[in-house]
Formats: sequence, structure tokens, C-alpha cells
Amino acid sequence: MKKNINIAFDGPAACGKSTAAKAAAKALGFLYVDTGAMYRAVAWLSIQRGIDSSDAESLASLAENNPVTLIPDWTISKGYRVVIDGNDITSEITSKEVNSIVSAVAAVSGVRRVLAGQQRDMAAEGGIVMAGRDITTVVMPDAELKIYLDASVDVRARRRYLEEKELGRDVSLDEIKKRLEQRDRIDSERTDSPLMVAHDAVVINSDDMTPVDVLNEVVRLAGERALR
Ligand code: DC
Repeated sequence: MKKNINIAFDGPAACGKSTAAKAAAKALGFLYVDTGAMYRAVAWLSIQRGIDSSDAESLASLAENNPVTLIPDWTISKGYRVVIDGNDITSEITSKEVNSIVSAVAAVSGVRRVLAGQQRDMAAEGGIVMAGRDITTVVMPDAELKIYLDASVDVRARRRYLEEKELGRDVSLDEIKKRLEQRDRIDSERTDSPLMVAHDAVVINSDDMTPVDVLNEVVRLAGERALR
């Protein structure tokens, strides 16, 4: 029996999904699940094991045999810790190496099947805010609230640029924009569960919104759905 509504978020890279989903989960007392972290964990382990990102069969069995655990932790900025194969890899999932192969790993159908199954299990009881690329369309098409969070590539690149600078990383805005466009292309052109807008999703374009504006809108919509 479902105890609460579920909220599903999709959107392109660096659109502010994680920030919005995390804040909404915190405000509503829901569990926050960043599914991108699960694909990143499998990508990280594939590097450790020397598995090529084109070896679909080995990647699928790697995902099958090494479930990813997301441990809620509001004391760190991500809001969760990531554990796979006994390793806490929270700070490694956004490394350059992982960034460069994660879209290819996420395009493997066998990997998607395994992770989407685990994600559906997590959502069974309700009270989840889940963010990714196929959450509104494939993983939780029945979620009471489905949001497609969008922002132009220029705004996304600038936000990511400022984040990276803050972390003391030496980055170029142009390079970031190019990488975002490339990841968007892979995520939305793949054959299995491409990123797209679900027919019944609410589209929020955050170009001219602050994170607080987005949160307020999400909480307003969640309240409306909870009353239905
Ligand atoms: O949201 P992110 O940047 O952490 O996602 C990492 C990669 O995983 C990105 O290429 C999109 C992909 N992904 C996916 O295909 N499906 C999801 N539900 C979540 C992420």
C-alpha cells in the first residue's frame, strides 16, 4: 500500500534537477533518489574492473551482480552517499573519468533494465523524489507528479562553470558547453529510454528562476497532487 505520492524529475544535464529534487525531498520529508548516481557507480566500477564501455554484456552483468546502495545523508551537499562493491565512492562519481564514459554505460539496455528494476522497487511505497532521464517516462510513469525541468544550454553551461570554479577546478565555459551538448545528444538519441518530455509532465523552464523559485513551484504542485 502506497503511503504517499511520488515525484518524478527528468531533464538534461545540469538543468538543476538534483538541486530541485533534493530540496523538495528535504522540504516534504521524502526520500531523495538521484538515479544518475547509480549509472555513475556502475561506470566507476567498470573502470576499476577494466571493462570497456562498448562491452554491453559485461556491463550488464556488472550491474546485475553489484547493486548500488544510496545512503541518505543530509550532512553532505549531495544528500546521499554512494556505495558499490563495498566501496564508498561518493566523491568519485563526478570524476572526469566517470563523466567521460557514463553516458555510454547508461546507453546499455542491460544496465538500464537492472537499474530501472531497482528504482521501481524503491518507489513502491511512495514518498520518493526520484531524478534522472527516464523517470517520468519509464521508471515511474504513474508518479502523481511528473516534472520535466529544462534550461537553455547557455544557462546550464554557465551554472556548471560557476560550480566547477567554486570547487577550484580549472575549466573553460566553452568546453563545458560542448561537453553538455555532447551528453545531451547521447542521452536523447539513444534507442533505449531516451530523454524526452512525457506527455503528462509539467515542464518548468528554470532559465529565469532561482533554485528557491523552482522549489516553491514543485512544492505547490506536490501539494495540489496530494489533495487529489
Ligand atoms: O544526472 P547525471 O549527470 O548524474 O547522469 C549521469 C548519466 O546517466 C547521464 O549520461 C544520463 C544517464 N542517466 C540515465 O540515462 N538515466 C537516468 N535515469 C539517470 C541518468
